[in-house]
Amino acid sequence: MYRIVAKETLVPSIQLMKIDAPAVSRKGRAGQFVIVRTHERGERIPLTIADMDPKEGTVTIVFQEVGKSTRELAMFKAGDLIKDFVGPLGIPTHVDKLGTVVCVAGGVGVAPIAPIARAFKQAGNRVITIMGARSKNLLFWEDRLKAVSDELIVTTDDGTYGRKGVVTVPLKEVLERPEKIAEVIAIGPVVMMKFCCVTTRPFNVKTIVSLNSLMLDGTGMCGCCRVSAGGQTKFVCVDGPDFDGHTIDWDIFQARQQIYLDEEKQALQEWERCGCVSAAQKARA
Ligand SMILES: Cc1cc2nc3c(=O)[nH]c(=O)nc-3n(C[C@H](O)[C@H](O)[C@H](O)COP(=O)(O)OP(=O)(O)OC[C@H]3O[C@@H](n4cnc5c(N)ncnc54)[C@H](O)[C@@H]3O)c2cc1C
Ligand code: FES
Repeated sequence: MYRIVAKETLVPSIQLMKIDAPAVSRKGRAGQFVIVRTHERGERIPLTIADMDPKEGTVTIVFQEVGKSTRELAMFKAGDLIKDFVGPLGIPTHVDKLGTVVCVAGGVGVAPIAPIARAFKQAGNRVITIMGARSKNLLFWEDRLKAVSDELIVTTDDGTYGRKGVVTVPLKEVLERPEKIAEVIAIGPVVMMKFCCVTTRPFNVKTIVSLNSLMLDGTGMCGCCRVSAGGQTKFVCVDGPDFDGHTIDWDIFQARQQIYLDEEKQALQEWERCGCVSAAQKARA
């Protein structure tokens, strides 16, 4: 069992949890993820390592409440125990001294991009970060990203904070500058990552995306997380989660993300009908 040592609601429906998991915190690297299962009968959910403190022995996860399992996890409090916290999984983000790199984050993607931006900065790169959200009240960790970036551009879709519009607009402007951009790393909603790749392609700038495919085992055995990359079938859990976004067949990826929508809706409805509060309390008992 793994103890939740701290919990914080960062913005509506996005939760931060610090978990006591010394082995994961010792070995984890930027870009890797864990698989969390709240209780014996719970579903496994992959969540990216947003921060680690090996001295304290803790790992930070940040997650958006989107369906049954993330909403169930959100009901747990500091001091509660969760059943499984398996990791670190996946291949760490490849970090090198490249020159200038641009980190682009949308929505909850701000959390996984933070350790990556920090690692690129520590490797001696100039880091330009672009972060976006639908509205001001959904922005978090601006200070964290500022601390590890040479330049930070903030956008909101509705213009309530920073520049009005989506992240691909400043991304294109940065690419049009005389400064050579060595690499772009984009993490966020699928549609955002896809359009970051559409934006960078004419500039021929390598663009790494972190794919949030559906997963079951997270160890390369079930095939649930497969993607088409460069015409080959790859498994996000063991070959990724980072991929060269220009090689991804985004139509297939987007279609696969939708295949269990009915089941996901049904699971949430059943969970709500059975009394989500008592279910979570039972799980904690
Ligand atoms: C390697 C990896 C790292 C991830 N890291 C994070 C993270 O750090 N923070 C975070 O909030 N989420 C992350 N995700 C996504 C997260 O795992 C899913 O949101 C979660 O499994 C949904 O479970 P659920 O039961 O709450 O919702 P479900 O009932 O499974 O789904 C509810 C809704 O969310 C959508 N959804 C389901 N799975 C995903 C998914 N993988 N990506 C996007 N939408 C999905 C469904 O289409 C549906 O609309 C990551 C996914 C992967 C593969
Ligand atoms: S989650 Fe099963 S193969 Fe990747």
